[in-house]
Amino acid sequence: NKKAFIFDLDGVIVDTAKYHYLAWQKIANELNIDFTLEHNELLKGVSRVRSLDIILELGKVEASQEDKDKWLVQKNEDYLSYLVDMNESEILPGVFPVLKFLKEKGQPIALGSASKNARPILEKTGILSYFDAIVDGNDVTNAKPDPEVFLIAAQLLNINPEDAIVFEDSVAGVQAANIGKMTSVGIGSATVLHEAKYIFKDFTEIDTNFIEDLIKK
Ligand code: G6P
Ligand code: MG
Repeated sequence: NKKAFIFDLDGVIVDTAKYHYLAWQKIANELNIDFTLEHNELLKGVSRVRSLDIILELGKVEASQEDKDKWLVQKNEDYLSYLVDMNESEILPGVFPVLKFLKEKGQPIALGSASKNARPILEKTGILSYFDAIVDGNDVTNAKPDPEVFLIAAQLLNINPEDAIVFEDSVAGVQAANIGKMTSVGIGSATVLHEAKYIFKDFTEIDTNFIEDLIKK
């Protein structure tokens, strides 16, 4: 019995959500826009371009395309500066055992991320080889909560969407999985991710029995 196990990247596999936040905060500060951790939830799972628009909307700031392009470059350079020394220690607790278990069981694994920086991150952390398919921000036109990224991932793994399980830390990502008729597993706060079918604080709370049950379903 094969399922498609699809992982979001930022905030699920690696602890990069905090770096995205720091980089956006810098831009928001420069523009005198109040940008809190709560606002940041709106940005998780959302593309770079859309994230900037959300911040500008929060501050009711209108900007030229030229300025926007400048801030997008600045944000990404700042974000990448946090990743220079990245290694496998950035993989979030409990993720490795789950990936290993799925591999042992011969279950197809995919990445489904909005990030255009996904591949270098998987390389730096040494887990690229675990993924049978990678779908990232370079491959999609519709951002989460549109299910496109996960639908393509399931298709590449040759598995029906109904037989796909999606691990997500963002509201938009959980919604995308649900809209795609996939099983959503929220990783993070139960309050924030209440729309998910299952919710865990982090991967250390996921045991092999849970995964076995998902495979059997
Ligand atoms: C993920 C993150 C977002 C980020 C987006 C684009 O979905 O959760 O915070 O904005 O990817 O990432 P990128 O690396 O392309 O800027
Ligand atoms: Mg995420």
